[in-house]
Amino acid sequence: MLLLRRLWPLCYAGVEKAYEKVAIMNVLIAFATTEGQTDKISKFIGDKLSEGGHQVVYHNVKDFSRGLSVTDFDRAIIAGSVHSGKHQEALDLFVFANRNQLNDMPSLLVSVSLAVVFPDSRKDAEKYVEVFKESTSWTPNECLLVAGAMQHGAYSWFQESKLLEGDLASHANEELKENQEFTDWKALHKSVIEFIQH
Ligand SMILES: Cc1cc2nc3c(=O)[nH]c(=O)nc-3n(C[C@H](O)[C@H](O)[C@H](O)COP(=O)(O)O)c2cc1C
Repeated sequence: MLLLRRLWPLCYAGVEKAYEKVAIMNVLIAFATTEGQTDKISKFIGDKLSEGGHQVVYHNVKDFSRGLSVTDFDRAIIAGSVHSGKHQEALDLFVFANRNQLNDMPSLLVSVSLAVVFPDSRKDAEKYVEVFKESTSWTPNECLLVAGAMQHGAYSWFQESKLLEGDLASHANEELKENQEFTDWKALHKSVIEFIQH
C-alpha cells in the first residue's frame, strides 16, 4: 500500500505529461490570397493541424460579413502574400483591428513571397515582414517566410509588368519565366507543428 502511495504521484505526473503532448488547440487561420497560393498554404497548414486532432477555423479576411472573435482561439496563424512589396490591405486591416488580442496570444505570421526564394532578395522578404509588423502594431511570436508560386497564366498584362518592375526583376528572365511552385511543404509542416507545440 505504502509503495502504491509513493508511486502514484509518478504515474500521475506521467499522465499529465502525456496530456500536455496531445492538448487540443483551437486554431484560427486568418488569411489573404490574391492568386490562390496562400489559400493552398493555409489549407495545408489546417489539414496538418486537423490530422493532429486540433480544431481549425479558416477565415478569409476579405469576408467582412463574418463576425469572429480572435479571443475564442488558443493560437492564431495569420497568412498573407506579397505584391509590389506589400501584404494585402485586408490582412493589414484585420490584424490592426485585432492587434491587442493577437499581441496577447501565441501567434504566427506566414508571409508568402518570391523574394525569399533567392539569396540576393531574401532581405526584401524580411523587410516586407518588418513593414507589416510596424503598420499593424502586432508582434507575432514567430514569423515564417514561405516561398510562393509563379502562375503566369493567372496574371493580367498589368500584373506581369508589375512583377517585372519590382525587386524580383533580376530573376524574371531566368528563374521566374516558367510556372513553378517554390513552396517547401515539408519545412512548412515542421515549422507549424513546432509553433503549435510551444
Ligand atoms: C503582380 C505581382 C507582384 C508581386 N510582387 C512581389 C513582390 O514585390 N515581392 C515578392 O517577393 N513577391 C511578389 N510577387 C510574388 C507573390 O508573392 C507570389 O506569387 C505568391 O505566391 C502569391 O501568393 P497568392 O497566390 O496567395 O496571392 C508578386 C506577384 C505578382 C503576381
